[in-house]
Parts: sequence; structure tokens; C-alpha cells
Amino acid sequence: MAATPIDLGRPVQGDVIELILDDHRRFEALLRDLRDSTSDRDAVRRALATLHTAHALAEERRVYPRLRRRDAITEHEAEHGEEEHAEGHEAMLAVLELKGTDTQAFDDAVEELARVINHHLTEEELTILNPAREEVGDRLRTELGEVFAAERNRQIDDGCGSVDQVRALVAKAHRAGLLDEDE
Ligand SMILES: [Fe+2]
Ligand SMILES: [Fe+2]
Repeated sequence: MAATPIDLGRPVQGDVIELILDDHRRFEALLRDLRDSTSDRDAVRRALATLHTAHALAEERRVYPRLRRRDAITEHEAEHGEEEHAEGHEAMLAVLELKGTDTQAFDDAVEELARVINHHLTEEELTILNPAREEVGDRLRTELGEVFAAERNRQIDDGCGSVDQVRALVAKAHRAGLLDEDE
């Protein structure tokens, strides 16, 4: 089961666009809690790492490829999404690796993480979810919702947000050239 007491939701069906937007709202709520010095920031960072990793992997494995096949998005848009996920994993790792949560270094790492995630949510909603709204019918959106939710929940159950898993994702992204500075 999920290694965190914070509720990340467990959708099993729905329109894939709505399910993705629900997670985006959860990211925003968790980022707000992460900025709040009175919250249990260690628990919040672990919950956010779990949700961020599960969501990004489910999009890359189950959603982006299907949208590409339907020509709803271009190869470039899918690749750019993956680059931004990689930047998210890198910024998330920096937050996870810090020992204390009451330091300036922690605040700085949280600020960078919020910047990277907010940028990606905006861009994904504008360049990937909008075309999906326009080009993909209800039936496929429901089908994608089911496979997206299943992958997301499976990743959460597998402990996808652990420091080791996130570190491995960052290393893999470096090898794949997704984190090149000039991208
Ligand atoms: Fe997303
Ligand atoms: Fe994404």
C-alpha cells in the first residue's frame, strides 16, 4: 500500500483529462503545504514525490503515446513533456535529499520545485490537454482514464516516490539526454 498517510486519491475510472487535472490540483495543494512551515513537511514531500512520480510515469507510458498515435499531439510536444517531467524529478530529488526541512536550503529547493512543476502544469494543460479535448472523443478519453488510473495507482503501490527511485529516474533522464542544459 501507499507508504504515506496523506491521501493521494485512488481514482479507477473517468475522463483522462479530468483525472489528470484532479492530480494537478493535488500537486498545487501539496506544494502549498510544503511551503507552510507549520505542516509536516517531511510527510508532505514524500507524498508529493509519490504522486509526482506516479502521475508523470502514467502520462508517459499510457497517455502521451496514445495521443501521439491519434496525432492529437506532436512528437515534439510529447518529448518536451518528458523533458519537463525529468526536470521535475531532478527538482524533487533536491527536496528529498535535504536532511532538515526548516532550513534556507530547503526553502530554496521548494521554490525551485514549485517553479518547475507550475511551469509544466501550465504548459501541459495548454499544449497537451487542450488538443486532447479537441481531437479525442469521449470513448477514448474514458478508456485512457482507466489505463492512466491503473498505472498511476500501481506506481504508488510500488513505492515509486522513494529517494532511490527518484534518483534512478534522474540518472536515467541524464543518460537519455533529457536534462541537457540548453534544451
Ligand atoms: Fe500532468
Ligand atoms: Fe505531465
